Amino acid sequence: MEFALLPAVNAALVATDALIIAMTSDGLTSTGQALDSISSGALSATITTANFEAKPGQTLAVYHLANINCPLVLVVGAGDTKELTSRILHKMTTNAYKALNNKVKTAYNFFAELSVTDRNASALISDVVRTSVEASYLFDQYKSKKTTTTALDTLTLVVGDELFDHEGQAAITWGQSVGIGQNFARDLGNLPPNVCTPAYLATQAHELAKKERKLKVSVLEEKDMEKLGMGAFLAVSQGSDQDGKMIVMEYNGGKKGDKPVVLVGKGITFDTGGISIKPAATMDEMKFDMCGAASVLGVMKALVAAKLPLNVVGVIAAAENMPSGGATRPGDIVTTMSGQTVEILNTDAEGRLVLCDALTYIGRYQPAVVIDIATLTGACVVALGKVVSGLFSPDEELAAALLAAGNDSNDRAWRMPVWSDYQELLDSPFADMGNIGGPYGGAITAACFLSRFTKDYTWAHLDIAGTAWHSGNNKGATGRPVPLLMHYLSSRVAR
Ligand code: BES
Ligand code: MN
Ligand code: ZN
Repeated sequence: MEFALLPAVNAALVATDALIIAMTSDGLTSTGQALDSISSGALSATITTANFEAKPGQTLAVYHLANINCPLVLVVGAGDTKELTSRILHKMTTNAYKALNNKVKTAYNFFAELSVTDRNASALISDVVRTSVEASYLFDQYKSKKTTTTALDTLTLVVGDELFDHEGQAAITWGQSVGIGQNFARDLGNLPPNVCTPAYLATQAHELAKKERKLKVSVLEEKDMEKLGMGAFLAVSQGSDQDGKMIVMEYNGGKKGDKPVVLVGKGITFDTGGISIKPAATMDEMKFDMCGAASVLGVMKALVAAKLPLNVVGVIAAAENMPSGGATRPGDIVTTMSGQTVEILNTDAEGRLVLCDALTYIGRYQPAVVIDIATLTGACVVALGKVVSGLFSPDEELAAALLAAGNDSNDRAWRMPVWSDYQELLDSPFADMGNIGGPYGGAITAACFLSRFTKDYTWAHLDIAGTAWHSGNNKGATGRPVPLLMHYLSSRVAR
């Protein structure tokens, strides 16, 4: 999707397929009022006749108004003026896109006339852009019949003079970069597990690097991981015919020598549970068990598009968790790269096993901050539902910054404890620890397990088991938490 920026225009004269205007509880915004008077009250008359109440996200298409060049005016409800939040703006933008897509190709959007309680003028523009990119997402490569014929492909944002030019353009680039990164993550998540294998993820990383000088990619193969002593990672991968890969992407947008932010993504391209096999119902959804990895690739793509001046290392622990004659058994004991030993009591708690070796490996980058992103536990979905991601960090400052980034991007997280009180649940009679912590507090004990491998740096863990994809009728990857991560990274540039 393309975006353009214009300062105040005469809306009655512009040549486009549709005009998108907002209406709050106080009535139409200024352009809507202007259109109403030019059409001698025809617009407001239609609004009244249609009983349009301007509820948040409600839309009304009005065709062929007198004296107005554009054939279609789409009125979008914004609800109560004082309660207009970014979440409502998100709904308005999505619904406007839905109302116009497959009907028209171009439109002018006048939402910049609104004031949104939790967004300034430029954040409002980037939100509209990002949400439109999100709304335009389509995954139909495996459908023989395509449904979209006339895609809405150009949106012109009409903004006030103070935003026109540099700041507005920067807001568009930002929104578009985040949206593109998010949609890329969704593509990777939605791909079937026979296509999206560890090798496929490595290829995607190489593809990104081909187009960008600032991005370097290297891949550790299983034989390299053997040399490094990554016994936990290899225990997961050994049951699969697909070779596991540790994919390392270095984005050097910042100054040489600046310590990087390191992102570590769980990339289980399919999680059967292994010998501790999962039940059949909804097992297909375990193709999404690489969405942490997908979000790291999405961030890399977004960083390149937004050209953020930062050093960021993205690491993906990619493996497939399968049962086979060569698979790990419950009771097996392995030695991790850190030297700590783990008794694998449940082969379905595999995410922490691939992550712990990745978290030890990345110590060599002397990270400023490390964030791992993982569809780690069903328990996190029980605790927080599918609305917010679970955030775990012993570091107050990092936790606060990530929570704020979640609010700024409409991609929220909620903090959970990683207190030492829970650590003893991981005790094993035979090894330094078990890989499960019993029936209670499963998301927390999983985070506690990871914390044992992150002592050398400032670390946070995002459990995205509930937020990375939708189940049911609109099944599909969400691309979360790419927006949260991008907003966090950009907050580090501002300092
Ligand atoms: N990938 C799953 C977590 C998951 C489950 C995400 C359901 C989303 C929906 C993870 O590998 C897993 O199987 N975790 C186990 C851990 C348990 C064995 C301690 C779980 O949550 O049941
Ligand atoms: Mn599992
Ligand atoms: Zn898993």
